[in-house]
Amino acid sequence: MLVASTRPGRIGPAIAEWFVRAIASEPVTVDVADLAEIGLPLLDEPGHPSSGEYVHEHTRAWSRRVDAADAVVVITPEYNSGMPATLKNAFDVLYREWAWKPIGFVGYGNTSAGTRAVQMAKQVATSLRMVPVGATVALRLAESTRDGQVIPSADRDAAARGVLREVAKVARVTRPLRSRETPGPVDGVVLTVAESEDLPELLVLQRCCWVQEALANETLDLAPLRESLVELRASGSTWQQWCVRRDGRLIAAARARRAGTAWEIGRLMVAPDQAGQGIGSWLLAHVEAQAPEGTTHHRLHTGRRSTRNIELYERAGYTVAPADEMSVSLTRPRDSAPTQSRPGR
Ligand SMILES: Cc1cc2nc3c(=O)[nH]c(=O)nc-3n(C[C@H](O)[C@H](O)[C@H](O)COP(=O)(O)O)c2cc1C
Repeated sequence: MLVASTRPGRIGPAIAEWFVRAIASEPVTVDVADLAEIGLPLLDEPGHPSSGEYVHEHTRAWSRRVDAADAVVVITPEYNSGMPATLKNAFDVLYREWAWKPIGFVGYGNTSAGTRAVQMAKQVATSLRMVPVGATVALRLAESTRDGQVIPSADRDAAARGVLREVAKVARVTRPLRSRETPGPVDGVVLTVAESEDLPELLVLQRCCWVQEALANETLDLAPLRESLVELRASGSTWQQWCVRRDGRLIAAARARRAGTAWEIGRLMVAPDQAGQGIGSWLLAHVEAQAPEGTTHHRLHTGRRSTRNIELYERAGYTVAPADEMSVSLTRPRDSAPTQSRPGR
């Protein structure tokens, strides 16, 4: 959330505090970026913001803060029928950090209740590839504030939640557009850290993929087939999880965790119709690259008769050893090179 006014005696912070209170029940984390506290100088970078090369620490800090947000809500007054110069400057200083983020507004003012400032800001936001939402809160100060505070009103609180829900909804569907991961082996694939809302779809993909394993190994007694959504959610406390979407559809996933000096990789899966294009190898390489400091080797397990998986891991440089009657364990020293790089599963 961005508080745009900076002048001494401003009402902006009181409006921001009201907004935070009104949306307190919503499942979001709010970072209040108060432009008065941040004190961004007027654009003072020698390079064009689209280069992303910043010489000043204040710009880098602003870049990190905006980068970390999935969505933006601006609390802005109207000054002379437009947005405050501080807000325009905060936009102008960065570029790609804003892209594909939904933006909602709480505008306030006298006669026009901040609506002209908001219209102007929306126009600027679209140049930065932001996605303005329709829901807006427009506060006419004389009617909605008293003694420098927003007057309590259930309708106003509901309007604030309306803005928040709309930006949250748009933030979910635009997430693949915001990903800046390395391009994948095929068009339209985006690799991200799995989030809570990915897990139901991930569980369906997991079951689908492990049916093949069940057939190959002639057993239904496989943990990935039995796992419930509750268990999958709980696994997030010990495992890091990644997923790959292709044009929005979840088509691959994997997880990993530290186990002593090993980086234990598991549940590498690719939707059957997407196999053979190098997606599994690419995802595996990405997961390996996330191994923490101190990792000496990568380790994973698969079914003894899961020949396609074993081939993929051998191509990636893993050595196979029997683990038990049903499964094999595969290891690879952390810094060894893959043996081959042709597309696999
Ligand atoms: C320089 C300036 C210009 C203003 N112009 C407008 C305006 O065009 N329309 C409006 O409705 N209110 C206008 N106002 C009134 C502000 O909306 C009101 O003072 C509000 O409290 C400003 O927000 P702030 O206290 O957070 O700075 C203006 C106020 C200032 C200081």
